[in-house]
Amino acid sequence: METSDPQKVVFITGAASGIGLASARAFVERGYATVLADRNADAGRAAEAELDKVGECTFVSCDVTDDDSVRDAVAHAVTTFGRLDAAFNAAGIDGEYGPLAEASMENWNRVVAVNLTGTFSCMRYQLPELVKVGGGAIVNCASVAGLRAAQTVSAYTAAKHGVVGLTKAAAREYAPAGVRVNAICPGTVDTPMFRQSLDAVADRLAKTNPSRRLADAGEIAAVAVWLCDGAPGYLTGETIAVDGGAGA
Ligand code: NAI
Repeated sequence: METSDPQKVVFITGAASGIGLASARAFVERGYATVLADRNADAGRAAEAELDKVGECTFVSCDVTDDDSVRDAVAHAVTTFGRLDAAFNAAGIDGEYGPLAEASMENWNRVVAVNLTGTFSCMRYQLPELVKVGGGAIVNCASVAGLRAAQTVSAYTAAKHGVVGLTKAAAREYAPAGVRVNAICPGTVDTPMFRQSLDAVADRLAKTNPSRRLADAGEIAAVAVWLCDGAPGYLTGETIAVDGGAGA
């Protein structure tokens, strides 16, 4: 009797835009049933309509700063597709730019809530599902600001360093269960977030990068897909910078 492996399922936050959207596209093309989770329902539904023509996907409204919303979104993924094999936690915001002493508490709280606490909340619900199916992979989207300070975004720098630490902690704890947890640290990626904050300096950032350009979101997506599907089973707890050589 022939048996075929079940279709793999991935849960992606921030899937309505930029890196998350490019990754959703790449996972759908790879044959994954893809759950697009985002707080922006209009953009999320538009992404679902686009990717539905290519493969299996569903949009679920999810605010990563609301733990109940994350719980319900992960539950929705499992109810819809029957299992969870992988997750890419890409939802993030950069927040206000300016010197630390002039930054508001509101900005600190919001940036930490989305980038760091949001990633924690997502992993809290994703990990048990991956353990249930005998293992899988989580990729967290940190930043080169998770490896060294990005000037004038202290909250973002601290939150992304936190994401790197959280990734390592989860990797150690869940390796015995066959779950790999890694982080990607993108450099300057041409996305709506980047353009919203850094459009005025985009040309300079591109010219001063060793690769003489910004990254395309698809280049980050390719690493996310590889970390979930293709990377060796011994690769866990790592941070991979995708920065055109800037950190070298
Ligand atoms: P983007 O703004 O294009 O996309 C981010 C998505 O996250 C949006 O769809 C937004 O609705 C969603 N989102 C924001 N807050 C959310 C929340 N509370 N709950 C659910 N969804 C939420 O941004 P981009 O550039 O694609 O960023 C993706 C990730 O990559 C972020 O974690 C960011 O920090 C990281 N990153 C981006 C870099 C860049 O140069 N674009 C560089 C380094 C890291």
